[in-house]
Amino acid sequence: MEKKNIDWENLGFGYAQTDMRYVSNYKNGAWDEGTLTSDSNVVINECAGVLQYAQTCFEGLKAYTTEDGRIVCFRPDLNAERMEATAQRLEMPVFPKDRFVDAVVKTVEANEAYVPPYGSGATLYIRPYMFGSSSVIGVKPAEEYQFRIFCTPVGPYFKGGVKPLTIRVSDFDRAAPHGTGHIKAGLNYAMSLHAIVDAHDQGFDENMYLDAATRTRVEETGGANFLFVTKDGKVVTPKSESILPSITRRSLMTVAKDYLGLEVEEREVFFEEVKDFTECGLCGTAAVISPVGKINDHGREICFPSGMNEMGPVTKKLYETLTGIQMGRIEAPEGWIKVIK
Ligand code: PLP
Ligand code: COI
Repeated sequence: MEKKNIDWENLGFGYAQTDMRYVSNYKNGAWDEGTLTSDSNVVINECAGVLQYAQTCFEGLKAYTTEDGRIVCFRPDLNAERMEATAQRLEMPVFPKDRFVDAVVKTVEANEAYVPPYGSGATLYIRPYMFGSSSVIGVKPAEEYQFRIFCTPVGPYFKGGVKPLTIRVSDFDRAAPHGTGHIKAGLNYAMSLHAIVDAHDQGFDENMYLDAATRTRVEETGGANFLFVTKDGKVVTPKSESILPSITRRSLMTVAKDYLGLEVEEREVFFEEVKDFTECGLCGTAAVISPVGKINDHGREICFPSGMNEMGPVTKKLYETLTGIQMGRIEAPEGWIKVIK
């Protein structure tokens, strides 16, 4: 298979159209058999549920070329399960897990020429999504839906790759208690757009959101969960009902415990204790694990000891072990790697 002529090493995190995408339609209470199509356009009615009441959700995962030349993806079953939870909360039909994984495989296979080569630093980002496609004008769920998957080759999510980030404590909230913060609803990201534009305008890479009720506990950023390291080397991650259960974060906690022999703790993290941590990282499919060098809380700066030039030592070990597992250099736990070909 001849690869596309793409400057893999210099890709940013952007959309580039690939050849094929997967589509399945839900009508009269059932999904159709699904198909691959070369048509990248979606045609829907002006009154579609997604357009009027934002009835849409998505997932994100990646395909990698391993050291020995296979194409694999990482824990797609967990994306399927999370999309199931999201769909239920948004009154959307569930796209069955086995069909979800099969559709991911088909989409990647059909776009093999776009899977970045091993060692290029790029990966194939896979975006499954679903939306209400039939018309609704009273506030209620649509009756018809479309499930689709496209993919696009990407480089690092943050410009500068693994250079430490500067983030700020946000004055905007991302998710309400008992709201939708724990699912991957498009509306959570619409909520965060003004906050991220404003953060970028002020020279920050991301927002640290605190819990909306008390503004005392750390939640997450617009697109990643937090990991912290304590002075005595423990890996700590915030526990909250209103953050997205990141697959990367859950995997990194296992890596920390089982591969690196570190103590791990998922618990409430108060903003006031953040200054006492020695490392901070953002973890997610797109972010992988991106080190945070500095947090700005309304002018008060928290600077982590590893500085603004390199990752802290624990973050680095986590990064290397996780990417080693994803790229086939390190043996993965049972069931983590789905071989595509
Ligand atoms: N938190 C938010 C708000 C996200 O959008 C994402 C991205 O998917 C994550 C966390 C990380 O989740 P995952 O590791 O499953 O990609
Ligand atoms: C992902 O990491 O897959 C996400 O969906 C985050 C998004 C902000 C790009």
